[in-house]
Amino acid sequence: MAQSLVRENRILSAFLEVSRVLNSSFDLEKNLFRTMRILGDFLEMERGSVFLVDYNTRELKIVAAHGLTKEQIERGKYRIGEGIVGRVLEKGFPVVIPNVGEEPLFLNKTGSRIEKNGISFLCVPIKFKGEPIGVLSADRIFKDSAITVDEDIRVLEIVASIIAQYVILWRHYRESEQERENLKLELRGRYSLPNIIGSSDKMQEVFEAVHRVAYSRATVILYGESGTGKELIAKSIHYMSPRAKWPFVKFNCASIPEGLLESELFGHEKGAFTGAITTRKGRFELANGGTILLDEIGDLSINLQPKILRVLQEREFERVGGDKIIKVDVRLIAATSRNLEELVSKGKFREDLYYRLNVVPIFLPPLRERREDIPLLIGHFIRRFNEENKKNVSISPEAIRVLIDYNWLGNIRELENTIERLVVMSTRNTIKPSDLPINLKLPAPKNILQKESLKTGIKEIEKSMILDALEKNGWVQAKAARILGLTPRQIGHKIKKYGISVN
Ligand SMILES: Nc1ncnc2c1ncn2[C@@H]1O[C@H](COP(=O)(O)OP(=O)(O)OP(=O)(O)O)[C@@H](O)[C@H]1O
Ligand SMILES: [Mg+2]
Repeated sequence: MAQSLVRENRILSAFLEVSRVLNSSFDLEKNLFRTMRILGDFLEMERGSVFLVDYNTRELKIVAAHGLTKEQIERGKYRIGEGIVGRVLEKGFPVVIPNVGEEPLFLNKTGSRIEKNGISFLCVPIKFKGEPIGVLSADRIFKDSAITVDEDIRVLEIVASIIAQYVILWRHYRESEQERENLKLELRGRYSLPNIIGSSDKMQEVFEAVHRVAYSRATVILYGESGTGKELIAKSIHYMSPRAKWPFVKFNCASIPEGLLESELFGHEKGAFTGAITTRKGRFELANGGTILLDEIGDLSINLQPKILRVLQEREFERVGGDKIIKVDVRLIAATSRNLEELVSKGKFREDLYYRLNVVPIFLPPLRERREDIPLLIGHFIRRFNEENKKNVSISPEAIRVLIDYNWLGNIRELENTIERLVVMSTRNTIKPSDLPINLKLPAPKNILQKESLKTGIKEIEKSMILDALEKNGWVQAKAARILGLTPRQIGHKIKKYGISVN
């Protein structure tokens, strides 16, 4: 009696240890090995092995075993239905071989039992929701005749069921880890540039081109409407290139009178012209080793175009009023919001220069062609201007909706300025549609033009102005009327006419 109490205590301690071990981490092999050792330490069950079905090979493989060498583990593979282990899996019932030495079915694949006599082999299925997913086996060394096989099997079945839950949890864990890995890889596959927003396909194409071209010295030309990010992209090409340590110099071809352009770009010698008191380096020299951005290249005068062509071809030039040839190593990026091809056909842009520049053209899409980026850009700018102004303003989904629909002719710059103004001016925590400037709420000009007549367009404008005034004045009609220069009677009439609900 006392002996069986001791035994029961040992069994309970073994269960406790097993659940402790399996609760500790998702290191499958290590923890199952420790579990098998517990069987040996507490219950005189040697060579405990856990087999799991490998669903790729349809084989049972030892995942962890106590008392077997690495080679023995390697050998311990069974097909479903093969040997005792294979049969236990197939049938889903425990099997006991009372004396291993007398059993022909016992394959002893691992070759671990040299002296087979006096050993019983116990084998139970590991099941989850009634489905066998593996097998747990152990050798029982009979020193104590009081212990019945039934009891051993019951103990092993309980351990097997704890293992089953652990294995299933571990599989879920591994799958989600795998998913996270895949997601990371996918995200890495997506192109990103610091502080440049764009997850639309069109911007992703731009980012991909930037990544590809940055490392070379190839001339790049950026096409895009005003405010689409040409300068930003030019800078990121420079900072991603091996030239990043050297200067990035920007030159706007449209901003300087033609007479000064040449000396600005190429520099001048002392006394080259009235006012040239000292020798001065031009932008190309200043950019040596780095990158020069020739902005608005479409506005470059036709007289200067051959000089740029020469720098592109020969990487050399002379300062104004000098005859010394200056050699530079500069990467050229050009940008324009104009259609260069059209300028070429009108004879305003040299064809040879056009082809020299057009090595890698990158087209920056206008915001209206990638509206899906607008919410991301809004979030980006709100964060930035909150930080700059030490504010904590957010924006309502309805206001975002209005901003998505607006026809951003000034593209990202216009959006950026709008958000800055909203953040700076906001007195409330959340930007609502009523806080947006009226022009944003008007139907886009393009939409008005699509309407059948001027009358309809004007009506739309009138309606949205009334709505705006009402919103801004807490729906007090008299106030809204005053703002709009209407009498209360007139506004009442129009509210009815446009079916604006005031409640
Ligand atoms: N994808 C973007 N993500 C975040 N900010 C952007 C993005 N594109 C442009 N911006 C911001 O919008 C503003 C306008 O960009 P940028 O000056 O590069 O445009 P641009 O095409 O050179 O315009 P312009 O033709 O008027 O010179 C800048 O303040 C820039 O930081
Ligand atoms: Mg620019």
